[in-house]
Parts: sequence; structure tokens; C-alpha cells
Amino acid sequence: MSDPYGSRGNNDRSITKSNEPLGGVSGDIAGTGPAADGGAAASAAGTAFLAGEGMTGGYGRGADILHGCTVAVDRGRIAVIVGPNGAGKSTAMKAVFGMLTLRAGRVVIDGEDITHLSPQDRVAKGMAFVPQTSNIFPSMSVEENLEMGAFLRRDDIRGTMAQVYDLFPILKEKRRQNAGELSGGQRQQVAVGRALMTQPKVLMLDEPTAGVSPIVMDELFDRIIEVARTGVTILMVEQNARQALEIADIGYVLVQGANAHTGTGAELLADPVVRRTFLGG
Ligand SMILES: Nc1ncnc2c1ncn2[C@@H]1O[C@H](COP(=O)(O)OP(=O)(O)OP(=O)(O)O)[C@@H](O)[C@H]1O
Ligand SMILES: [Mg+2]
Repeated sequence: MSDPYGSRGNNDRSITKSNEPLGGVSGDIAGTGPAADGGAAASAAGTAFLAGEGMTGGYGRGADILHGCTVAVDRGRIAVIVGPNGAGKSTAMKAVFGMLTLRAGRVVIDGEDITHLSPQDRVAKGMAFVPQTSNIFPSMSVEENLEMGAFLRRDDIRGTMAQVYDLFPILKEKRRQNAGELSGGQRQQVAVGRALMTQPKVLMLDEPTAGVSPIVMDELFDRIIEVARTGVTILMVEQNARQALEIADIGYVLVQGANAHTGTGAELLADPVVRRTFLGG
């Protein structure tokens, strides 16, 4: 009996091991956290177009919120981040967008390490981010919101605006109306449309379907698929986990700032543990 605890520690050991190349993970997280899945997540990051790898950090001088968290997505694909409230999903998005100083880990786009770039410089690299809250200018018209999205561009934006109006026809109809007067779903369309005005390579969406009806949610997901088909890479957080995983090429379940499960959307939807714990059975 050289290893009397052989079967007991398996899970924990693999967690620790899988996180090692990503800058380490504290013994506490490795030992007591949920069945983490940093290994699968890390291998997804290898050749991905966009990757936040082994991200560790928090807000200001506060405690770390992310613990070796990895999210990655291939070009033109859809990645979905799900997990309980407070898991750090929005924090992970902010970290990828450069709104958080990481203590460990890195962010890579198209092979280029952009860990130390400001959010504005990341926009110039092709990133667009729609945050979870305050993602439109309510007292400006729909069209002014779209123009604001293009503030970094010096070229003619009319073609892109026409594409946004093709994608979301209701916005064309309401283009002179204040964005704050629109319905929740229409406001989310404004937010997504504004992000698209930079002609991004990567579109990052934090809960784009928050507070909208199931029909509007389905429509928004269809538009997001359409955007991905044009080659735009999508990284999205979703509270509507089941529906979002149905359209996900890759899904990440985050728990307490760490990767708990990683797989294709179909794999996660079929995983009994994921179903029971995160999808309501
Ligand atoms: N600006 C901030 N300053 C300090 N702590 C923050 C800040 N924003 C979030 N946190 C903390 O970070 C943790 C993760 O929050 P985060 O918003 O990333 O979770 P989430 O998974 O997006 O949750 P939700 O599903 O509710 O949107 C929480 O404990 C939260 O209190
Ligand atoms: Mg959030």
C-alpha cells in the first residue's frame, strides 16, 4: 500500500496540477473548491482566438475574486459563461476587457498578449464589450447611441449602421427616439448594435438577455448566431444557462471565481452534475 489515499485525493490533485501552468492556485481553492476543471479550460485556451488564461485578481486592494480562471473561444465561435450569482462571471469579462489588474494570468487575442493594454487599446485591437448594466445612453437617440459606439473610427460609419439596422430593423424604425424610451429587449439591441459599430473581431456580452421575455431572448440569440456567422468571435455571460448552452460552441461553468466545468454546450447540457447543480435538473 504505497498510496493509501489513492482514490480519495484524485479530484483535488488533478485540480492543482491542471492549474499549475497558469500561475498557480491557492491550496484552499484546490482543496475545498467545487470540482474544478481548469485543465479542460486551459487546453481550450491553447490556440483560441481570444483567451483569458489563468486569470487571478480582484478589485483594487480587495481579495481575489478570480482564482486561475480561464475562458477561451475560437474565431467565429460562441463561448458562454454560466454559473451562480456572484461566481465572478462579470468580473471575468471585465478582466478580459482590461478593467481589472490581474495578479496572474494573461489575455491573448489572435496570438498577441494584450494583458497590459487599457480597455480603449483593446477596442482598437478589435474587442467590443457590452457590460451587464448601464450599457446605453438613455437620454440620447438610438442613432446617437450607435454613433457613440463608433467614436474611435475615422472612416465612414454609414455602412456599419445600415448593417446594424438590417440586423435589428426595429432600431431603424425608432432611430430618432430616445433609447431610454425603448423596451428592455430593444435597449439590449441598442447596446449590441452600439458594440458592433466598432466592427469588432470579438463581441463580449454580459447577460444580453437579462430581463427580456423568452421570445425576445430567442430572437436575440438568433441575431448573436448571425453575428458569429460573419466571423465575429462571441464571449457571452448568460443567466439563461440552458438556452445559452444550446447555442454555445464551448461553455464554461464558473464557481467562486474558478472553472468548475468546461465542455461543448451539448456536453454540458448532457452532464448530469451540471444539469442537477446549475440547470435545475
Ligand atoms: N466593483 C466591485 N468592487 C468590489 N467587488 C466587486 C465589484 N464587482 C463585483 N464584486 C464582487 O465580486 C464577486 C463576483 O461578482 P460578479 O459581479 O463578477 O459576479 P457574477 O457572476 O457576474 O454575478 P451575477 O450573476 O449576479 O451577475 C462578488 O463577490 C462581488 O461582490
Ligand atoms: Mg454578472
